Amino acid sequence: MGYPMDMNKTLNPALVDLLERARQAAQNSYSPYSGFRVGAALQLTDGEVVTGTNVENVSYGLTICAERSALVRAVSQYGPKIKIEAVAIANLNNSASPPCGACRQMLAEFILPSAPVVFPAASGVRTMAFSDVLPLAFDMKLK
Ligand code: THU
Repeated sequence: MGYPMDMNKTLNPALVDLLERARQAAQNSYSPYSGFRVGAALQLTDGEVVTGTNVENVSYGLTICAERSALVRAVSQYGPKIKIEAVAIANLNNSASPPCGACRQMLAEFILPSAPVVFPAASGVRTMAFSDVLPLAFDMKLK
């Protein structure tokens, strides 16, 4: 479905499903200003999947990305103890879309460092461990 032909060989079935959930979520995108339709799906350690999409605003700066939209939904629905074990991001524009810096920092609070992050890259779908996506997140602990 719009992915490189070899995707199913390189991605495990659970991540293929998660990516499909992200793609479905992107159908609900409210993006009249950019036209960039993004979806995100979070796999939680308790088995739940929570999706989100980007919601833009005429003020532009108030726009929320798909990843943060999914994150706030997950916490709202399942509470502050959630742990994210995988993230998939998709867009309907056939473009690269790694998670933005703000979304990485927000995810850092709830995600396992080893969690795979699957996102569209110029070369096709790319998977990286979250700890490589955001190696030095801000936190309040002095290390
Ligand atoms: N966007 C996301 O949803 N996720 C990202 O990680 C980057 C950007 C959205 C925000 C805006 O609605 C549109 O993509 C263009 O920047």
